[in-house]
Formats: sequence, structure tokens, C-alpha cells
Amino acid sequence: MDKMSKCPIVKEIGEITSNMYRLGWNERNGGNISVLVDEKEIKRYVNTRKIIRDLPLAVAFPEFAGRYFIVTGTGKYFKNIANNPAENLGLIRISDDGSRAHLIWGYTAGGSFTSEIIMHLGAHKQRLNVDPDQRVVMHAHPVNILSMTHVFPWDEKKLTKELWSTCTECIVIFPDGVALLPWMVSSSPEIGLASAEKFKDFRILVWALHGCTVTGKSLDEAFGLLETVEKGAEIYMKIQNSNNERHSIEDGMLKAVVDDFNISVREGWL
Ligand code: 13P
Ligand code: ZN
Repeated sequence: MDKMSKCPIVKEIGEITSNMYRLGWNERNGGNISVLVDEKEIKRYVNTRKIIRDLPLAVAFPEFAGRYFIVTGTGKYFKNIANNPAENLGLIRISDDGSRAHLIWGYTAGGSFTSEIIMHLGAHKQRLNVDPDQRVVMHAHPVNILSMTHVFPWDEKKLTKELWSTCTECIVIFPDGVALLPWMVSSSPEIGLASAEKFKDFRILVWALHGCTVTGKSLDEAFGLLETVEKGAEIYMKIQNSNNERHSIEDGMLKAVVDDFNISVREGWL
């Protein structure tokens, strides 16, 4: 393996994407990840002065001029990343005017960054305004949250409350709730920009009939959000057709959790 493939953050991406694949969240090339990295994290492993190729961006992000991202390649399979990071990942540096990405490492078989790059860069931009430690954007197609959008109203407040009511820890892990966008054509600048608007105010975004994207300071934090949302959705899908006696975490119980854990919940949603 080349030196950059042994860089700790690249190894961590390989491990987490293998787990995501095994959980059934990322079939074929489904899903994508981007990680904002510091030059000091990578410079021992790669020559940052050598630009391999220039890749155009459909929307310019001048605020990211000179910043580095590791991004999964379009059409690449999560199951293959750990064994061959250099082919399936790329390290890019955003050009001075923000309209291009300089490829510094990766995509060795050709190709480019994920087709959802505008959503990723837009999400990083908006989350960094809220949290200067924001680093990760993670998109996947988990079965249960996706299934839920087939049978549940496309209403983000109702969806959030339903997820909170499935499992006591849900409100503790995502008290800020879940955003939702109605179905749109994927991989377009439109869905990317509409998503970025949602990330102004949310860390979790569900795309109806498609999947879910989460953000965070680390791969672990983003993964943890996604698995908690998916756990809530799995419980919902398992119980929704049951004719047995039903129990649920009612508003009063949610309030008791919030008070006990001293959590601030999205205003007006409880
Ligand atoms: P990419 O292969 O371009 O990353 O697309 C996968 C995907 O999940 C699109 O939403
Ligand atoms: Zn997708």
C-alpha cells in the first residue's frame, strides 16, 4: 500500500465504511463520505505540492480555498475502501477561487469525487458556522429510515417525534431533531443546495425515498447519529403493523428524560 493509505484518518475511513457496508447501509456504490482534514494530518504521508488532476465543481466554495477534504469516489463501493483506499478515495484541495478541486491523492483508476459533492461541501460550510469542530459528512441508504419514508408523512417534526418515541435514548442523542426533504433527483446541485439550507439548523437530514445524511466532529460521532436514527426507524418498522397492545414514549415521558439529562430540545418540538 502507498504511504497515504496508511495515514490514520484514511485507515479510520476504511474501518467505518466496512462497518457501514456490513450493516447494510451502503449497497453497491450507495452512500458517500467527506472528511475535512488539516494539512498537518496528511503532510507526512503525501506530497501536497503535486497536483494530479483538476476537477471542476458545479458550485464554487471560495470559503474552502486551500482546505483539504478526503472524499469517497463516485461509483465506488464502500465494501472495497479498506482494501484499496487509493482507488476508492481522493484527497482534494479546493482551488483559490473555490471553483475547482485539485486532486492530490487517490482515484487511481480515474474518476472523481462523489456526485453528491455539492451537498457535502454545502453541509460542511453550514455546520462549520454552527460548530468550528465540524469535520465529517456521511451519507448512506439505511433500510429502515428509508422504508419509513415510504409509509410515514413527509413532515420533519412528526418524523422526529415518532423516532424519539421509539427508544428512550433517541431524544438524548438527537434532541435537535431530524430534518427531511421531499423526494428530489439525487446528485444534483439543487438537492445539494436544498440540503445545505437544512444543515444550517440540523445535523441529520433524511431524503425521502433515498437515505440519510449526518454530520459531526468525527467519523464516530456521525456514525453514532446514523445508527441511532436507524435503530429508532427499525423499531418503528417492526411495530407499526402490530395488533397487540401498544406502548410508546409519550410526551410526558420524553419531558422527564429531557429534565433528568438536562438536555435542550429543539424549540417547540416537544
Ligand atoms: P456516488 O457513487 O456518486 O457517491 O453516489 C452514491 C449515492 O448515494 C448518491 O446519492
Ligand atoms: Zn445516496
